[in-house]
Amino acid sequence: MIVSPSILSADFLNLGKDVEMLNNSQAEWIHFDVMDGMFVPNISFGIPVLQHVSKIAKKVLDVHLMIEDPDRYIDAFQSAGAEVLTVHYEACKHLHRTIQRIHQSGMKAGVSLNPHTPVSVLEEIIEDVDIVLLMSVNPGFGGQKFIERTYDKVAQLKKMIESRGSKALIEIDGGVNLDTGAKLKESGADVVVAGSFVFNSEDPTSTIAALKSL
Ligand code: DX5
Ligand code: ZN
Repeated sequence: MIVSPSILSADFLNLGKDVEMLNNSQAEWIHFDVMDGMFVPNISFGIPVLQHVSKIAKKVLDVHLMIEDPDRYIDAFQSAGAEVLTVHYEACKHLHRTIQRIHQSGMKAGVSLNPHTPVSVLEEIIEDVDIVLLMSVNPGFGGQKFIERTYDKVAQLKKMIESRGSKALIEIDGGVNLDTGAKLKESGADVVVAGSFVFNSEDPTSTIAALKSL
């Protein structure tokens, strides 16, 4: 599986140091969580921070927009260095158009589902997306408990992707550790996001390596 550590749990006073650590780790992607205080009950960081991170990051910048009406900022995130841009199904009135715009802007397009949203809502769009990000916690905060229903959702989504000949990767976000990570791999996940498990560990580089070796 691809490992995408979430810098929501990094040390913001030493963000450059943490990005260097990720550069020298086995992580392929860096997960960047943007929150607007409207779509989710928290505010994190945004475009100016991404501009700085992208100056030094040597990994794919995997940007997760937890914001209302994300169309307003697609080009701005692309210019700031995003390579994967994921929007929420629940935040987009015209998701098909939003996905087209992300592609036109030159990025991989992801769509994320909240825990209460069934994977069946993706049936008409699964061939058009590069990534489906299933939330395995309610978005807004790091360090929450993994929702067990997610394993079934991964398996269902995998079936839909295979039967439709889609190339979409399945990414899981929230409560990932070695235990949930192993079960996610078994269920068919391609990418795991891990925030607190990586950054609160004694040795984040070896924690990433352990996730990678699942
Ligand atoms: C939650 C964010 C996650 C978060 C995961 O809204 O989307 O990416 O950083 O944190 P952990 O891995 O601690 O659950
Ligand atoms: Zn995220």
